[in-house]
Amino acid sequence: MNTILESLHSRKSVRVFTDREISPKEKQQILTAAESLGIGSCYIGDIMEHYEKHRELLNLPPYVFPAIMVVFGYPTQQQADRQKPKRAPLDFIVQENRYHRADETTLKACLNTDTGTLSFEEWIQRFCKRKYHSDFSNEMSRSIEEALKNFI
Ligand SMILES: Cc1cc2nc3c(=O)[nH]c(=O)nc-3n(C[C@H](O)[C@H](O)[C@H](O)COP(=O)(O)O)c2cc1C
Repeated sequence: MNTILESLHSRKSVRVFTDREISPKEKQQILTAAESLGIGSCYIGDIMEHYEKHRELLNLPPYVFPAIMVVFGYPTQQQADRQKPKRAPLDFIVQENRYHRADETTLKACLNTDTGTLSFEEWIQRFCKRKYHSDFSNEMSRSIEEALKNFI
């Protein structure tokens, strides 16, 4: 953990940690620690795209797949002041012991936070198009499929 904070302070550009070195709980602690120092962060799931290129850039062995990258930086005033989007209730997000599928009414109530002038149907269609039926999403699926070939 100290090494990680040191590397944040010394502004090294890229550090690669594996799950052997750093647990999911520690990952969250790093983000919280960074926040307390005024350093913002962002998870980058896009690291799963372009597997071949990232494997070469990061010198990854065949059984290592980058699931998450985290970037850090000092937020601009505009970013620091931005109103954070409303979150869905915790009991909707957190699953304990067993996964519980929300029914349609609950799902709508939890997601229907800021659809602006759009109806829920229009908003969710656009969300789906942006997140799941997009070039980046197709590339992510292709990339993961390619990486999985190492395991079969
Ligand atoms: C698992 C995960 C992966 C993410 N991947 C990306 C990404 O690849 N690119 C990106 O710009 N933001 C990424 N984000 C950040 C989200 O887009 C979003 O900005 C962040 O969760 C903060 O949410 P907010 O804008 O609602 O405050 C990711 C977030 C999570 C939790």
